Amino acid sequence: MHIVLMGAQGTGKGTQATILAQAYRIPHISTGDILRQAVKDGTPLGKKAQAVMERGELVSDDIMIGIVRERLARPDCEKGFIFDGFPRTIAQADAFTEAVRDRGLRLDAVVSLEVPREILLERMTGRRVCRGCGAIYHVKYSPPEVAGRCDRCGGELYQRVDDHPDAINTRLEAYERQTAPLIDYYRQRGLLKAVDGAGLVEEVAGAIKSAVAGQ
Ligand code: AP5
Repeated sequence: MHIVLMGAQGTGKGTQATILAQAYRIPHISTGDILRQAVKDGTPLGKKAQAVMERGELVSDDIMIGIVRERLARPDCEKGFIFDGFPRTIAQADAFTEAVRDRGLRLDAVVSLEVPREILLERMTGRRVCRGCGAIYHVKYSPPEVAGRCDRCGGELYQRVDDHPDAINTRLEAYERQTAPLIDYYRQRGLLKAVDGAGLVEEVAGAIKSAVAGQ
């Protein structure tokens, strides 16, 4: 199963990709996680990306396409993948089509999660992420058992720098301007599955599985 999960910030891509990757036993590839790890490790990529990410803007297409080509070359992508946060521009989508074809693979579906804006704001401001393993929590909708600590690994939970109001607005504007056009792009190619992402986490996961199974 080769899937792309798209949707505005806070629609639940990371949450759902984690569930689907376990269910289908395929790698979950989050370009946001790859960049955050690079920032944490202080690599040249992380140094280039940090300020851009903190402002809520997009990292350049050239950098992102390079990262994804490298990741696709790993053998675990042969049996499947779930991309979360890539592609995000038409240029990335064109390069992705080519890169997937070059590996002899075929994209099965592009799932677009749809959630009203007021829900997105609440989800992003309440999000907490584990510094250790990257697990995603929400102070109201999926709180940890012990406040501030990850249930899985005991790591410290933190609020992402880009989950503050100014960066959230910049990110949502970038989505509308640069990423939303991909909905028509993939609809025209017969790959788009629009899924309501406003329900409970388990309900949304069920709806995605049904949409993908009915491809
Ligand atoms: P990235 O990490 O991809 O962030 P994003 O797209 O902004 O998406 P989010 O992580 O905010 O949201 P999500 O949809 O994954 O929601 P989540 O599951 O966490 O990118 C970060 C930055 O990296 C970008 O701004 C950019 O600078 C750069 N970047 C990355 N990829 C790039 C690319 N391809 N090109 C250029 N730049 C790139 O859920 C949100 C919250 O809601 C959580 O607290 C969760 O617990 C809660 N929640 C989830 N589902 C539900 C539900 N059903 N009910 C109630 N609560 C829920």
